[in-house]
Amino acid sequence: MVLGKNDSEREQAITIESDEQSAGVPASGELEGNAYNPLGNAGINHWQASYVTHASLDERNNIFFAAVQMTRMPMVVCDPNQPDTPIVFANKAFLDLTQYTEEETLGRNCRFLQGEQTDQNTIAEIRTALKENRAVAVDILNYKADGTPFWNALFMGPVSDQNGKLLYWFASQMDITERRLTENSFRQAQKMEAIGQLTAGLAHDFNNLLQIITGNLELAGQYAHAHPTLSQAIANAQQAAERGGKLTQQLLAFARKQRLEPKRINLNSLIVDFSEMLVRTLGESVDLRLDLKPGLPSCTLDPTHMEMALLNVLINARDAMPGGGKVTVATALMNDSERSGVHQLPPGAYVVICIIDEGVGMTPEVARRATEPFFTTKMPGTGLGLAMVHGFVQQSNGRLEIDSHLDKGTAVRMIFPVTLERAGASLHNVPTSKPDAQTILLVEDSDDVRQVTEKYLRSQGYIVLSTHSGEEALQLLDQHKKVDLLFTDIIMPGGMNGLVLADRVKQRIPDIPVLLATGYTEELANQNVNTSLCILNKPYRGHELTERINALLKPDKASF
Ligand SMILES: Cc1cc2nc3c(=O)[nH]c(=O)nc-3n(C[C@H](O)[C@H](O)[C@H](O)COP(=O)(O)O)c2cc1C
Ligand SMILES: Nc1ncnc2c1ncn2[C@@H]1O[C@H](COP(=O)(O)OP(=O)(O)OP(=O)(O)O)[C@@H](O)[C@H]1O
Ligand SMILES: [Mg+2]
Repeated sequence: MVLGKNDSEREQAITIESDEQSAGVPASGELEGNAYNPLGNAGINHWQASYVTHASLDERNNIFFAAVQMTRMPMVVCDPNQPDTPIVFANKAFLDLTQYTEEETLGRNCRFLQGEQTDQNTIAEIRTALKENRAVAVDILNYKADGTPFWNALFMGPVSDQNGKLLYWFASQMDITERRLTENSFRQAQKMEAIGQLTAGLAHDFNNLLQIITGNLELAGQYAHAHPTLSQAIANAQQAAERGGKLTQQLLAFARKQRLEPKRINLNSLIVDFSEMLVRTLGESVDLRLDLKPGLPSCTLDPTHMEMALLNVLINARDAMPGGGKVTVATALMNDSERSGVHQLPPGAYVVICIIDEGVGMTPEVARRATEPFFTTKMPGTGLGLAMVHGFVQQSNGRLEIDSHLDKGTAVRMIFPVTLERAGASLHNVPTSKPDAQTILLVEDSDDVRQVTEKYLRSQGYIVLSTHSGEEALQLLDQHKKVDLLFTDIIMPGGMNGLVLADRVKQRIPDIPVLLATGYTEELANQNVNTSLCILNKPYRGHELTERINALLKPDKASF
């Protein structure tokens, strides 16, 4: 960010110090902008340009020199009257920050701090300011003597003699790496949250539409047996609707609203059990190595989704190595509170599963966007692979970390909390009911979904009482008494959702089986839902609904 005033404006606003030995132009709040300002405010009084009567750098016996050597703010002075504007003074804090010695520093242009990933536009901004003799404040990526990159909040301003002839450039630097990382991960988290909300909303509505499509196709199919062409057309449409259903499941996975069935698992065992499948997927040119930490503690994860996540990351690794190569799947234990802190995870023990390839790697831009849904550099690619992995890991209270270097390879780490207590009750507790029961109370707020489900259930021989709200469902129950199963949507507008309704119905008929339908499970997560409830994911096929209902009505034959 270039700031400051031209020479004539400067003259109007000069502060004179110490019997006219020096004078300066106050910053007057012009340091606002996106460059980091260490003052915590806009900065009014400090100078952005200065004028001195003594140009010498030799006077080093006064309090001001001592102050400059004592401050923890790095500072340099460069001489624009020598070729390439070399550093003529660097204070001790500058040496501490950059880890260079004074000998390595003096006489060089400050660009030696720049490197491979320093932004060229930022350098151009400095160049312009130097040419126009203006102060400048930028955040720039620099490198320490050992190659460690750091974000430098750089402020520079010109020092002239009383006639306005440029004598020196002064600069202060500050390491703001940690702040940048925190800000970036916060911004990234916010962005993902916003995309997640949008995706979840869309997928939820889309699921309802698909439910209507599949339901109606199934009904139509029942009447189309005599017409092969029509049957085929319906079957094709059904397949497309199924693919649409898979797509919405992927979107929900990204939005962290898929229905997970977490179990206590050992990641080493899961990897070993799954490795045959992985080897087959990777093909012959990729060499899969396992490096599993012995005695790895357990985590609580949905094993099927974990396998899918692993598969996605490994397929990416394979794609990144078109000529073949080595992929390592490693597990480790992480107890480092500093590292968990960087990921905004509470201190504690974590299991890390790391997939390392030697492939083409990613540019910083690709790495930054890799987990965005639909971001892909492949033809063809859906760009949903890492989005799903990210969603799954987040929903499992873990974190995804991607470390990639162009032409060197990529390491993808999934970090999950260790499970301490023993696993709890079984996932499905099938309620008992009368085997001859046939009346279903159907509650669904979407008219179309309700109508198609009602028609389907009737076609299967059930008596159906149907309504669009929990309140009305209770009234129906009071009127009819004989209801054998409640089938309700979970998410319904208004006061009573499917879970509350299930509770109320169970108060009246304690052993009534309940089947819940849902497009996504945010509500479940928020409401501490009992995992023993039977839940059917939308969009569901007619036969899936019948199977679930049969199993609930005849618990001895339950197969789930
Ligand atoms: C006093 C002074 C301090 C500077 N400090 C830094 C610095 O800390 N980091 C950096 O990347 N560039 C710094 N620069 C900028 C570079 O020295 C150089 O001016 C910039 O790269 C643009 O010029 P170039 O295109 O010739 O490289 C500083 C420049 C001056 C005059
Ligand atoms: N191991 C890797 N090495 C290099 N680039 C990768 C790696 N993993 C992911 N990427 C980059 O991230 C992008 C997004 O990955 P993601 O898995 O989400 O989608 P995709 O692989 O492009 O599509 P799909 O998973 O549907 O095949 C990829 O297109 C690729 O550019
Ligand atoms: Mg992929």
